[in-house]
Amino acid sequence: IFAAVEMAPRDPILGLNEAFNADTRAEKVNLGVGVYYDDNGKIPLLGAVRAAEKTRLEAMPPRGYQPIEGAATYNTAVQNLLLGKDSQLIANGQVVTIEALGGTGALKVGADYLKRLQPGATVYISDPSWENHRALFESAGFPVETYPYYDAATRGVNFEGMKAKLNSLPAGSIIILHACCHNPTGADLSDAQWNDVVDACRSRGLIPFLDMAYQGFADGIEADAVAVRAFSASGLQFFVSSSFSKSFSLYGERVGALSIITAAKEESARVLSQVKRVIRTNYSNPPIHGGAVVAAVLNSPELRQQWEDELAGMRDRIRDMRTSLVEQLKAAGVAQDFSFVIKQRGMFSYTGLTAAQVEQLKTDFGIYAVSTGRICLAALNTKNIGYVAKAIAAVVK
Ligand code: LMR
Repeated sequence: IFAAVEMAPRDPILGLNEAFNADTRAEKVNLGVGVYYDDNGKIPLLGAVRAAEKTRLEAMPPRGYQPIEGAATYNTAVQNLLLGKDSQLIANGQVVTIEALGGTGALKVGADYLKRLQPGATVYISDPSWENHRALFESAGFPVETYPYYDAATRGVNFEGMKAKLNSLPAGSIIILHACCHNPTGADLSDAQWNDVVDACRSRGLIPFLDMAYQGFADGIEADAVAVRAFSASGLQFFVSSSFSKSFSLYGERVGALSIITAAKEESARVLSQVKRVIRTNYSNPPIHGGAVVAAVLNSPELRQQWEDELAGMRDRIRDMRTSLVEQLKAAGVAQDFSFVIKQRGMFSYTGLTAAQVEQLKTDFGIYAVSTGRICLAALNTKNIGYVAKAIAAVVK
């Protein structure tokens, strides 16, 4: 039965980990996947997480099945984080949240549910977008097209192009939007532009699906929720996928959530019942540990404060790396102006490096980046940044 099976290509992002792990060079650096490392090159275990895990471990809780939608303590905490604890939508029962297997799992549950709801729709992703967006929505059965987003000339958003495209789409089109820290470009919309996107979604009858994997990595938890808040004030129905992989440094625990904003409480009950069917026929119900830890942190005022402080520390360190990279590139004799790196938000820089230059970084220096030129600033540290800057200088000269 497998005789005719063809070899599939490596995943454009996670596949880099496989190649990186197989590389025997001591000086190698993995700037591919979006993972935060500390200044010693280690994935941190946050103090707030450690405290919550210690309490859990001591309690030795039983391992029964979770509800299909996950724990209420977790789902409510997610809603408060996304929409604000005083949200009228939450109070009205207009928010359905399910615990998902990371942000990717949330997107997949949302995609599968949307396929049942809007089988004939086309999905629109930003140009460019996170590589897995296209693959994921195509695997759910949708045709996937793009809307203009990045303007390479200004290294910002081609907002006129984006708006014009959104305003031309047929009703019922599904629009994937990066709520903050756009992946891969780091170029975000302004508050006013978000309001325009909301208006376009309303006037065209589009289905907005906000992907928020990096809340807290641009300016802070509340500030980074601006897009979700603009939609929540709009009276529209929309989807949000969110993730704690990066903000809690819990990548392998696969902790995320899908939230769906409905028109009314009784609608929420029907929507939840359908989403539960999608989950039950996929992975049945979510694992316990990661979500329990996140809920324990978010629901304890002390641990929540500790977490926000630690998140701010990660955010600040990435910013320092941005400034430092720009300085070191200059010091390495690079004539090209790289100051745009400082303005980009989140974990990534869309460097403008070509696929050939990225290949050379790998071959000559053991430095791994996504072939589009995306690098993860959160993998730089005070020890490897000089090496990386010199390598980039060598390939751009
Ligand atoms: C990334 O873009 O590198 C991260 O979101 C990790 C992933 O799953 O691709």
